[in-house]
Amino acid sequence: MGVLIPGMGAVATTFMAGVIAVRKGLSQPIGSLTEMGTIRIGKRTDNNKPKIKDFVPLAKLKDIAFGGWDIFPEDMYEAAVHADVLEKELLTKIKRDLKKIKPMKAVFDNKYVTRLDGKHVKKGKNKMALAKAVMKDIADFKKKNKCTRLVMIWCGSTEIYLKETKVHKTIKALEEGLRKNDKNIPPSMIYAYAAIKMGIPYANGAPNLSCDIPALIQLAKETKTPIGGKDFKTGQTFMKTVLAPAFKARAIGVEGWFSTNILGNRDGAVLDDPDSFKSKEVSKLGVLEQIFEPKLNPELYGDMYHKVRINYYPPRGDNKEGWDNIDIRGWLNYKMQIKVDFLCRDSILAAPLCLDLVIFLDLAKRVGMSGIQEWLSFYWKSPQAKKGLTPQHDLFKQLEKLENTLRHMKGESLINHLGLDYYEDDK
Ligand SMILES: NC(=O)c1ccc[n+]([C@@H]2O[C@H](COP(=O)([O-])OP(=O)(O)OC[C@H]3O[C@@H](n4cnc5c(N)ncnc54)[C@H](O)[C@@H]3O)[C@@H](O)[C@H]2O)c1
Repeated sequence: MGVLIPGMGAVATTFMAGVIAVRKGLSQPIGSLTEMGTIRIGKRTDNNKPKIKDFVPLAKLKDIAFGGWDIFPEDMYEAAVHADVLEKELLTKIKRDLKKIKPMKAVFDNKYVTRLDGKHVKKGKNKMALAKAVMKDIADFKKKNKCTRLVMIWCGSTEIYLKETKVHKTIKALEEGLRKNDKNIPPSMIYAYAAIKMGIPYANGAPNLSCDIPALIQLAKETKTPIGGKDFKTGQTFMKTVLAPAFKARAIGVEGWFSTNILGNRDGAVLDDPDSFKSKEVSKLGVLEQIFEPKLNPELYGDMYHKVRINYYPPRGDNKEGWDNIDIRGWLNYKMQIKVDFLCRDSILAAPLCLDLVIFLDLAKRVGMSGIQEWLSFYWKSPQAKKGLTPQHDLFKQLEKLENTLRHMKGESLINHLGLDYYEDDK
């Protein structure tokens, strides 16, 4: 299976280096459900909890070949050293494998990521020509690496905030826009178009509009391609979608939720641009509204103040610190506070998500699923959903959906946690 990655920076190199290190028995794939997770099958009394990878037929780590694109020409060893996430000692042990992976020339325009510029970039007479050049890269990669299947996962930078416009509505309008260099088609959408047109599953790790437009959803249906996004749910939002459902479950009121981050990697530098930050902010803000449903619960959440900040702070590199201050209200309106201080490592949290997403999207393709893969909402800050459907943000509901989808694929009974049947003999 070929894994194609537009954007080979900190997340991508940590993902690739991790897979190679695990393959060589140098480390463990912690954080990956497809490698380490288990799933309950049947009744609790059956005691049947196989590993997910033994339950459904998943691609094996040893069968993965990596490729991708970046605006910088460095090979993956140099890029990983630059990203400064993994220790030199580990990188040295896998240097030979990493050096073999070199990025292809990117489709890039600095109007969409204003804080970056690079020279390793494709030229083409219009955006359609660039999409075709990406398709040719993909076909060449497939042949050279003797792949039978491919998956694409966007690990590139966060682009400026773009809204859906006319050019995104239909496949015809999008293709016309590609030929006419429409300004509402950013590079991430060009890669997504190329992949989906070729029937290659596509995952969108950034908050970019990318494949979240009617034209590409329609194209995905026509080419029988599973797609998903947006924005890996790794640190602060991961915690938020664990804690918020707990407050809601106990009918605890929330007056305010202030979230701030400091990070100093290249992603942090990109997000220092207000237009790129706006994409991230929109993606991070959506979760509480869906979980708390303030319109249904005005006395608990009606006046909640939710603020998200990200500050670029170079000394921390990839080791992000995310603080949350949560002002809650309990019995008789008595106020309390909760503070969360998550000293995390951004790319260490994101890498296993990349692995699970490519493995599950490949599975989805093989079992004939196409279009938006809601069962993979578990992995996204801002899960793509069908128009008119509210996305599910609660992490444990998302996990249930994921597990039930796997059971459904295998014809096993779904688990709803009712549990009355265990007590039937007691009557
Ligand atoms: N690490 C996390 O926890 C996390 C969580 C959610 C989302 N993300 C998102 O994942 C993405 C990657 O994060 P990162 O820390 O690896 O950032 P990074 O800056 O280290 O890597 C991004 C890479 O993308 C390249 N790039 C930008 N535009 C490109 C294009 N058009 N074509 C090809 N390459 C391009 C850049 O040159 C860079 O090397 C970012 O959008 C980030 O917001 C990361």
